[in-house]
Amino acid sequence: MRYRFSFDGYSPEEEAFYGTILTLGNGYLGIRGEVELEPSLYGTTIAGVYDYAPYFYREIVNAPRAVGLRLFLNGEPLSLSTQRIRRYERELDIGEAVLRTEVEVELQQGGTLGYESVRIVHGSRKEVVILKFRVKPGRSGTLTIISPINTDTVNPLYREEITAKHYRVKRHSSHDDAIYTEVETTDGRYRIGIASSLAVSCRHSRFIVKNTDGIAEVFQLDVEEGKEYEFIRYAVISYTSGKDDIEQPVLKKLRDAKNAGFDVLYREHREYWQELWSAAEVRILGDEEAEKGLLFSLFHLMQCMPVDSRISLTARGIHGFGYRGHVFWDTEIYALPFFMAVFPEKAREMLVYRYNNLDAARENARANGYRGAQFPWESADDGYEATPPAIPTDMTGKNAIRIYTGEEEHHITADIAYAVELYYRFTGDNDFMEKYGLEIIFETARFWASRVRYDKDKGYVIEKVIGPDEYHEHVNNSFFTNMMARYNLLLAARYLELSKENEAWSRVAEAAGVTEEEAESWRKIAEKIYIPRQMDGIWEEFDGYFELLDYTVDPYGLGEERLPAEIREHLSRTKLVKQADVIALQYLLKEQFDTENIRKNFDYYLPRTTHASSLSMPTYAIIASWLGYDDIAYNYFMKCAYIDLHNLYGNTKDGFHLATAGGLWQILFRGFCGVDISGDILEIRPNLPQGWEEVALRFRFRGSRIHLRIRKDRVAVKITGGKKLKIRVFNEETNLEPEKEVILEV
Ligand code: BGC
Repeated sequence: MRYRFSFDGYSPEEEAFYGTILTLGNGYLGIRGEVELEPSLYGTTIAGVYDYAPYFYREIVNAPRAVGLRLFLNGEPLSLSTQRIRRYERELDIGEAVLRTEVEVELQQGGTLGYESVRIVHGSRKEVVILKFRVKPGRSGTLTIISPINTDTVNPLYREEITAKHYRVKRHSSHDDAIYTEVETTDGRYRIGIASSLAVSCRHSRFIVKNTDGIAEVFQLDVEEGKEYEFIRYAVISYTSGKDDIEQPVLKKLRDAKNAGFDVLYREHREYWQELWSAAEVRILGDEEAEKGLLFSLFHLMQCMPVDSRISLTARGIHGFGYRGHVFWDTEIYALPFFMAVFPEKAREMLVYRYNNLDAARENARANGYRGAQFPWESADDGYEATPPAIPTDMTGKNAIRIYTGEEEHHITADIAYAVELYYRFTGDNDFMEKYGLEIIFETARFWASRVRYDKDKGYVIEKVIGPDEYHEHVNNSFFTNMMARYNLLLAARYLELSKENEAWSRVAEAAGVTEEEAESWRKIAEKIYIPRQMDGIWEEFDGYFELLDYTVDPYGLGEERLPAEIREHLSRTKLVKQADVIALQYLLKEQFDTENIRKNFDYYLPRTTHASSLSMPTYAIIASWLGYDDIAYNYFMKCAYIDLHNLYGNTKDGFHLATAGGLWQILFRGFCGVDISGDILEIRPNLPQGWEEVALRFRFRGSRIHLRIRKDRVAVKITGGKKLKIRVFNEETNLEPEKEVILEV
């Protein structure tokens, strides 16, 4: 039962939490898990559909809801908030991606009403949602079913009480077999068409109701006590950014789904998920808890897998409205490695999304007085900077917290170049490099070359930035930022060098106008870029950090609430760090440091890190496992694995923590399994936690499928597909032939 997660007991206060963890999605559509029998204002996202929003520039739209249902027996509604609930059970099956609900309530008129449903957001028919349900009346009479498309849905703004509605209704239409609603985002960029149809096989009467809350199909039928009645609701949710008619295509997709019928749709859906799980197969023998949490996280990550390059993975997925559906460095640094190794074509789409927004990044650089391309800290559907400059703190909107990340958190530009290189080294995707990757690398290097300032004492400095540790703003020479900028500049110079041997690449360099002189200037800047000082081997996070007030915390605690008020209110004056920063850099550029240096920095920074961002733990865990700090690594692994299931940060309702899910996979892959590319060679050096007997996993590397079974002192590896491959296991090189398992021991 490693794929089943059950929850019982209804509580209106917890619905928003369940809304996130029971979300179903397919990369295109996300349907939050709030129970269909109660009204909900939140719930449907379409990847890539955004609207203008006050403060946030653009935010993902909460589309009309097409899964709600109202049931009445003899006029009495099934109401979870007023009736006595005998049973309320929900089960998420992550193997098949279905959500089951079972409810039984006591009616005020006497007797009971039972309800069971299966909800599916179809894997391959991206726009299709299916709800099959059974009603069991505990007394005879008239059953009324209202099956609406609700157009009263809104987005929560900066407070739950303040909401924004991101669409206006263009039209409702009713047909013999369906209802249809079309809405347009308030900025006019997108139209969403939704069709719904309830299939009822027994004798009934049907009529349509339209009001300000939407349109509904209403059914009435006579029912008998003790019998069961089955219904299937089909819905299609689609959008366009063009002028095309979508009503007919949407209705056609609905009819196609209905004609296929539930069994066929379910079979297709199951096959889709079997394929995903087969690619992402992971087993942890000897630790069921760890395995369950990992699978749960991977499930939610896979549900967000982008369908194309119009939008990339967002911070909180298609699961909610946290961070407004914006794309951050979370994607490239934390989530992308999973996709790169398991679904490389999806990692490619995620990077092509950045390429598609290169013009916006160029404009962004220009507007800020720089050259090349400067990627926005937060990005939405159009690639312009979407970070709010300020967020109100009260209802009047007069008081606001100023947000500087959009203006200063510049490391994202180098993080994207880093991800391009990592993707290329891992996949060997030449076509990608030629069409998209190289240009990103050149243009981002250009940005850094214009971003530095020459200081006669220090060399090239980068002033007024925010590093990953967002407690300290307007800092000079962030270790993370300067090291990543140097990396980016050298990477671009190296690619120009390599272009000399590669005709296609040299054409790209030429088209981008990159010359030998420019590459030489990149090398020069990189050589003289100022890196903050070291004290006893510890890198200073930014200029002046060592002079701040020292304060340490329990490394196993999370967040700021545990801090005394005088510290919490003046974090920027202390050495406390929000999340892995120097350590994150040592993870990304590990080959530039020796183990002892990493250990010193880890020992120093860990007790000074609050982990107020969930991005922190994965990095610390990976390094902890390399350093042999097994307890720390394992503790963080488990926290990441249960971050949302146990609502560890208290904000699961806003969406799933996708960077943590991707980071969790990296703890397993890079940390515990010790997989790395060194030079050109895939390397495996396991560091399994205590009690783990074996980890079995699959991934892809440069055209080969790799099957690994890892134990503490033994690695079994087999490749299928691809050619011979040289790898290094426990420091010994070995040649793999396709289809032949090789077992290596310490
Ligand atoms: C973190 C950032 C992260 C963002 C979105 C912030 O709290 O500090 O590093 O990109 O959340 O997840």
